[in-house]
Amino acid sequence: MVSAGRCVGYGVRVTSSNPTAAAPWWRSAVIYQVYVRSFADANGDGIGDLAGLRSRLDYIHDLGVDAIWLNPFYPSPQADAGYDVSDYRDVDPRFGTLAEFDALLLDSHARNLRVIIDLVPNHTSSEHPWFKAARSAPPGSRERRRYLFRDGYGEQPPNNWRSTFGGSAWSRVGPNDQWYLHLFAPEQPDLDWTNPEVRQEFEAILKFWFDRGVDGFRIDVAHGLAKDPGMPDLGESFATSGPAMAGHPHWDQDQVHDVYRAWRRVSDAYPGDRTFVAEAWVHTPQQLARYVRSDELHTAFNFNFLLAPWNAQALRSAIDDSLGALASVGAPATWVLSNHDVVREVTRYGGGDLGTQRARAAALLMLGLPGGAYVYQGEELGLPEVLELPDAVRQDPTFFRTGGRQRGRDGCRVPLPWSGEAPPFGFGPPGSKPWLPQPSNWANSTVEHERSDPESMLSLYREALRLRRELPSLGDGGLAWLPASGDVLAFGREPGFACVVNVGERAVSSPIRAKVLLASQPLCSDGRLPGATAAWYAS
Ligand code: NOJ
Ligand code: CA
Repeated sequence: MVSAGRCVGYGVRVTSSNPTAAAPWWRSAVIYQVYVRSFADANGDGIGDLAGLRSRLDYIHDLGVDAIWLNPFYPSPQADAGYDVSDYRDVDPRFGTLAEFDALLLDSHARNLRVIIDLVPNHTSSEHPWFKAARSAPPGSRERRRYLFRDGYGEQPPNNWRSTFGGSAWSRVGPNDQWYLHLFAPEQPDLDWTNPEVRQEFEAILKFWFDRGVDGFRIDVAHGLAKDPGMPDLGESFATSGPAMAGHPHWDQDQVHDVYRAWRRVSDAYPGDRTFVAEAWVHTPQQLARYVRSDELHTAFNFNFLLAPWNAQALRSAIDDSLGALASVGAPATWVLSNHDVVREVTRYGGGDLGTQRARAAALLMLGLPGGAYVYQGEELGLPEVLELPDAVRQDPTFFRTGGRQRGRDGCRVPLPWSGEAPPFGFGPPGSKPWLPQPSNWANSTVEHERSDPESMLSLYREALRLRRELPSLGDGGLAWLPASGDVLAFGREPGFACVVNVGERAVSSPIRAKVLLASQPLCSDGRLPGATAAWYAS
């Protein structure tokens, strides 16, 4: 056991309310992110689909996670990979049908997998019927008041706001006509969330999917819905992308919280612990905690952890600051190492063998921390970012709107390798061509290959998730830091669990002398942890 004497007096001691059998599932859940278009392609058109996902549900179940989160599958022109929705109540024919979605939900629930879907409320597609009507409607009309149309200054836009993808955040619907705001691509016009019609429509959309049986929603750009009504120019101290600083005129405005309080009333009216997870890129844990107050959203991705460099102090601060801020509102932490918008962690942590070792250690760190966690498809295979994609195949609007200065996010979205020796590696039927080319050297990273290798990343994730389900100390709860030297993070959790991570390069002795439950790579014969290694102990 980790004795109280060894736990106290070293840094922050964080505890949350005692987890009980009745604690809602989302406080501890590990949720697998399915980027549908890159997961599995059943019909061979090169794009992953719901039928492909259905056929691979056993894989996700056997991995040992509690739920899946699906990126948008709604009808969409795909100007931003489905984050430009033209119909919020249907499935894009590229991905399947509503009937297939219902079948997927049924199949998932039969395997005890909950299903979270992606809601995109900040903007619609420019092909959404509302925006098509707004284009030809006069200034000030009901159609235009659903969006943020403004007059410009001659040929100049209303203000200097920039699109997150590069370029101005304003476009015109026609010469001499008004400008409309798009914080992302011009094909993604921002909605006006002060308009009650917009609020009613999205509450109806939530109900449409909750009625079908979904377990929750991931809220896209949760920090973006409300804008400073005066729309002041963006001061020099504010960046458009990256975590939003307090006082920013179009990110993290107070009014967003009214929206989430109303949504919480909607979800609370349904049985079965329905849940929301916020994608809110805000600067401080205190800002983030406001999204998960008890009458707002349930959880929020912890991007400060994802962004933390591979450094003991930075990681520990990200963990402590987050747990401290969230404990003050009674919400669990939600750890995340990667997703479809960021460079995969193997590459972020240095690439090659070193990047892989660090990513293995990071996985044990993340899954040992209090709260829930997300695993982005391919993370469990240790896939690296695909850096060598030719420009001609790139699809991310970031790449095009910055004239290629930013490479964009395609490199973390390359379709999964399932089996075989050559592309499409079982992602689609033999001879099919995945929408992004897979590296020809991925044969050793396929699910089939890794499943048979006890040393693989997949085997590590499976074992960690198995232990996580078994050990009462993991999931929701608190942690206590243990004394450890510079490059080492060590914490205990009750009952009887400890995690030690050596982020340095040289082997170090472990502050824990107890049975090793799992290690990200073999420990030295004397029990020391090699560089970039994490271990779980029955303390
Ligand atoms: C966040 C999503 O994760 C990202 O992929 C998308 O481009 C933007 N929001 C805009 O919807
Ligand atoms: Ca397909």
